[in-house]
Amino acid sequence: MGKLIQGIRGFNDILCEATPVWRFVETTVCEILDSYGYEEIRLPVVEKTALFARAIGEVTDIVEKEMYTFEDRNGESLTLRPEGTAGCVRACIQHGLLHKGQPRVWYGGAMFRYERPQKGRYRQFHQIGAEVFGVPGPDIDAEMILMTGRMLRSLGLLDLQLQINSLGIPASRAEYRERLVSYFRRHHEQLDEEAQRRLHTNPLRILDSKSLAMQPLIAAAPSILEHLDATSQAHIEQITAILDTAGIAYTLNPRLVRGLDYYTRTVFEWTSERLGAQGAVCAGGRYDGLVEQIGGPPTPAIGFAAGIERLVTLTAAAECVPPEPALHAYLVVVGEEAVAPAYRLVERLRDHLPRVRLRVNSGGGSFKSQFKRADRSGARYALIFAAEELATARVSVKDLRERTDQRRLSEAELIELLAECIAG
Ligand code: HAM
Repeated sequence: MGKLIQGIRGFNDILCEATPVWRFVETTVCEILDSYGYEEIRLPVVEKTALFARAIGEVTDIVEKEMYTFEDRNGESLTLRPEGTAGCVRACIQHGLLHKGQPRVWYGGAMFRYERPQKGRYRQFHQIGAEVFGVPGPDIDAEMILMTGRMLRSLGLLDLQLQINSLGIPASRAEYRERLVSYFRRHHEQLDEEAQRRLHTNPLRILDSKSLAMQPLIAAAPSILEHLDATSQAHIEQITAILDTAGIAYTLNPRLVRGLDYYTRTVFEWTSERLGAQGAVCAGGRYDGLVEQIGGPPTPAIGFAAGIERLVTLTAAAECVPPEPALHAYLVVVGEEAVAPAYRLVERLRDHLPRVRLRVNSGGGSFKSQFKRADRSGARYALIFAAEELATARVSVKDLRERTDQRRLSEAELIELLAECIAG
């Protein structure tokens, strides 16, 4: 026997017992996106490296150390997408979608980040994200937060926390950045190594540090909310007014800075305390400069992405996933001569009942062993097709749930019985 070549660390197989929850999460989220007027867009998994470097920011963790970058055979630098916004913006510019009103699009799929794998953090993970272009807000900002809240509630997740912040516009942020740098410089000895490095590259990210020792220093740092320009101030106030009126609880957190550089003004994050260190399940914000920065017309934009693995973990624990429907019937086929007519029968059943869940015994076996398989399959009915049934053009039916006596039915009677079973 050859030695198994194992899967890659941080790249997960999602096995059959987990896929029903995945499907429930994905369909619930998609239905809500549909209901708010978003349309699906499907994007490539690989883009030119320069796109992510320019969009996400050269001095972010993602671009500096987490990207799966490789040279194509022609020497071009390509990267497996670490997130969906950059590719989505690129596609919308490239195909002229930004000239058509105010597009609302959503996308889903695998994303790749070379992070240290741990519970809730993987190297291949999945997101569903959405972006809206051409709306300066703040109404759409609030609507997006309300929509993500509805998604989470629809999955049975009722105890998540919502944090909101405003990062202002580039000019006010630059001013705030200077203040912050001078504050941290005054307390340089309290900064850990990473923070000292960030002081010169991306000082706002120090606010996001998990270092316990630095928390008092971070808590006393100047607040970005006190250094907003007047329009950003009004913008965040209008968002919170809409949320207040809608009865959505949130925390204004001036230390919420996010790991991607493209944000302007609004940023938000839904977090759970049940996920350990990786608590963010859904996050996003406004990025009014990005479209222009990557070659499009000046276009305000906002979006979010939800991490499906984290949603699945929480949804499974909330126990509100409807059970997968059981098999309706398992067909036991006894004798070589019954096989071809049995397939003709089931194909006719499928013509009449497209939603029937029916499994035909495959690989032969005695009546006893096939019947055992039928019993184990969880099917409601065992259908038996052997010499006698073949001769009389009937099918024997055993109700495996009620354990009532076996009956012989014509094809029409069988269709009627299965139709009732499907209707529940
Ligand atoms: P993000 O915060 O980097 O934002 O990722 C969004 C969500 O993806 C996170 O809240 C988390 O649930 C999930 N996630 C991120 N990294 C991992 C990982 N390594 N393993 C498992 N789950 C993970 C973005 O990606 C932005 N593109 C969101 C956005 C869209 N902003 C505007 N438009």
